Amino acid sequence: MTDQWWKRAVVYQIYPRSFADSNGDGIGDLRGIIGRLDYLADLGVDVVWLSPVYPSPMDDNGYDISDYQAIDPAFGTLADFDELVAGLHERRIRLVMDLVVNHTSDEHPWFEESRSGRDSAKRDWYWWRPEPNNWASFFSGSAWEYDAGSREHYLHLFSRKQPDLNWENPEVREAVYTMMRWWLDRGVDGFRMDVINFISKVVDLPDGVMRPGERYGDGTPYVFSGPRIHEFLHEMHEAVFAGHDGSLLVVGEMPGVTVKEAGLFTDPDREEVDMVFQFAHMSVDQGATKWERIPFSLPKLKGSLGQWQEGLGETGWNSLYWNNHDQPRVVSRFGDDDEFRVRSAKMLGTVLHLHRGTPYIYQGEELGMTNMDFSGIDDFRDIESLNHYSAATAAGHSPVHVLDALRHMSRDNARTPMQWDGTRHAGFTAGEPWIPVNPNHTEINAAAQEHDAGSVLAHYRRLVALRHDEPVVAHGDFTMLLAQHPHIYAFVRRLGDVRLLVLGNFSSDPQPVDVPDASSWANADIVLSNVDPVDGEGLELRPWEARVYKLDLEST
Ligand code: NOJ
Repeated sequence: MTDQWWKRAVVYQIYPRSFADSNGDGIGDLRGIIGRLDYLADLGVDVVWLSPVYPSPMDDNGYDISDYQAIDPAFGTLADFDELVAGLHERRIRLVMDLVVNHTSDEHPWFEESRSGRDSAKRDWYWWRPEPNNWASFFSGSAWEYDAGSREHYLHLFSRKQPDLNWENPEVREAVYTMMRWWLDRGVDGFRMDVINFISKVVDLPDGVMRPGERYGDGTPYVFSGPRIHEFLHEMHEAVFAGHDGSLLVVGEMPGVTVKEAGLFTDPDREEVDMVFQFAHMSVDQGATKWERIPFSLPKLKGSLGQWQEGLGETGWNSLYWNNHDQPRVVSRFGDDDEFRVRSAKMLGTVLHLHRGTPYIYQGEELGMTNMDFSGIDDFRDIESLNHYSAATAAGHSPVHVLDALRHMSRDNARTPMQWDGTRHAGFTAGEPWIPVNPNHTEINAAAQEHDAGSVLAHYRRLVALRHDEPVVAHGDFTMLLAQHPHIYAFVRRLGDVRLLVLGNFSSDPQPVDVPDASSWANADIVLSNVDPVDGEGLELRPWEARVYKLDLEST
């Protein structure tokens, strides 16, 4: 089946807190988004994925939900939400909600009832144990918290304000499905499901392996894609998505997922999810943890992405991303955010969007926004970063080194406000922003790029249009070339008589490129590039250059 609409779609992720503030309280909101809908329409995207806007104590910026069927007052009202959906639909853009159901907030009424006593009717909606196991939380420290009132410990894989729901309990599952149907009835077009492969756990919660020097064990083998995960997702599909006739987009965020498992999750015949977010390519520059940086290796990146292209080539589907609200900015990570910022941002976009799969653009990526030069720990807001700083410095690591790691990898790099223009606070807010604005907004901003054909923004518009216009981009097969080349990313896409050759130079030096059929390619049309073509250059690429060649065998 090649006709699922989302294969030709480009998704744009909005992190509402940092997108646009309409009321001057320093926090982005729904009316702020409503004011920017034409920007999204001009970019040409087909879907908006909205990070959580539900009521929340904001321990993890909304990924800790205390009411699944309302809007947090900081973001607006349900009426604003309905207006947003209508405004998007008028522009033929779908809306995908973030669904965070591995855990709730500890302030959700379900958890409040659960913790009220050991004989509470909802006790079994969460994971309570007389003694904790040795698992580490993803946000530093133990994954267990003692509740003095009911004298047991509860499991929280993330912060202690994010208790894990017990999906073994059918009442939990039914409550979640009912809530999901409520949003679909309200007009939303699908879900991005937060850490959804964590919902089935090995129920006796065995201790995990302890790495040398660590205080807590690794519970992930008992959490990632556990024993009943396929059953739960298929059940959800039947209970919620069936009957929507393929009009929805369902993407599961799945840390630790393997290619083989993803092939099962995304096999349309199995009716689980449409695509997954996998993480393998996000760790190519990391050591044992995300805070340990190792040198970037292009062959490693190609090896990783290539394996996914191949593994999901026949059955299943990839989602394609460099950035989201959890990752540092790609131009600072795999590109050159200095001299070649514009060119390398375009090159990275080109390489990503030309893969087989559905591309995701994270707000500001289309402007070439960079990491932030945080001046000290006081500039950070993210619970993961702050907890890591406390735990690592308490364990004796030097604050200078810990801060250096945070500057490179902190999620706050992605969360500095969207840079709309060069004015104070980048046009994001008339008040004081909840997190500092990147000072480089005077140079890097949407207003400056809006009418500049050479801008990163204009290039992203072309990338979106190319996917819409050229069926080979959505449906063609994928063959990696030059897998071991240290600087060149090269691949071919093929559909019927049409071939595309995609080339990207991941270096600040010119690189000659030697691919099969080089002479036919050198004479082919260039359908997209990030540097003005110069006659007679053959296939030599200039620093950070990207080119997409097209051959139509029928017309030659
Ligand atoms: C993944 C989300 O993307 C991240 O922002 C969040 O902290 C965790 N899941 C917990 O919900």
